[in-house]
Amino acid sequence: MAGNVTAPTIRAGKGGAPLVMVTAYDAPTARIADEAGVDVILVGDSVAMVVLGYEDTLQVSVSDMAHHVAAVARARPRALVVADLPWLSYHLSTDDAVRNAATLIRAGAAAVKLEGGRNRVPVVEALVDAQIPVMGHIGLTPQSVHALGGYRVQGQQADAATALLDDARALAGAGCFAIVLECVPREVARLVTEEVAVPTFGIGAGPDCDGQVLVLHDLLGIEDRIVPKFVRRYASLKADAVAAVAAYGADVRARVFPSDAESYHLSAEVIATLGIAGSAAMGTDATRTA
Ligand code: KIV
Repeated sequence: MAGNVTAPTIRAGKGGAPLVMVTAYDAPTARIADEAGVDVILVGDSVAMVVLGYEDTLQVSVSDMAHHVAAVARARPRALVVADLPWLSYHLSTDDAVRNAATLIRAGAAAVKLEGGRNRVPVVEALVDAQIPVMGHIGLTPQSVHALGGYRVQGQQADAATALLDDARALAGAGCFAIVLECVPREVARLVTEEVAVPTFGIGAGPDCDGQVLVLHDLLGIEDRIVPKFVRRYASLKADAVAAVAAYGADVRARVFPSDAESYHLSAEVIATLGIAGSAAMGTDATRTA
């Protein structure tokens, strides 16, 4: 997509070239995503598990999210920055939801994402009325992990698939500019994608969506403990990083890091004034300075 990506340009991408979204949680990961040319950077509440070490996404607050959104925004990405509204930030009242979404917008997001279907229509309408673009998220909604009884594929029976379609239609009707479909059968994702007028982003939803989203740390192999079926690893950065840090440790222990070339030096004049030996005289020979 040419120029800065906005919610309307994503909305207009329905049925066009596949849309690309990844998560990022800080300035360096935002720069990686943006330089790679993604369309959307999602500051997901997955930050709770991926970065902050919690067991689930329920542990992060609006201020935690704002902290990470601001870090991503400071990278000034061209991609659209979407911030997850965390659990309980949009469940108590629509006023509360608008206020919390505004905090994330002021932190640097240009849109928010929330989980749920028909039950979220009043909140989506209130946010849209406050001029805040909203991305929906249905299927496996991790903020409902306890209610769902775990992280399971959703929409596998006919009634559940129909309910997902009704949810998607309701979210699009309420004004969502895009909808994430997480862990649903490919056939259900295709049906929803065909039936709703806004782009769908799949994660564990097969290839027929308008776009795809993955957690950056999963696709880079930084997170290597859990490998869901739908993740494709494009790098093994955790293994590379462990090897790199181990090599550094070995060099330190073998006294080959830092070398003389990696050290600062006094001038010959100051060395003479101080009456001290220079590096070479101290035994930092040519092999170590090469
Ligand atoms: O928080 C997140 O990373 C998400 C994606 C899985 C869509 O919501």
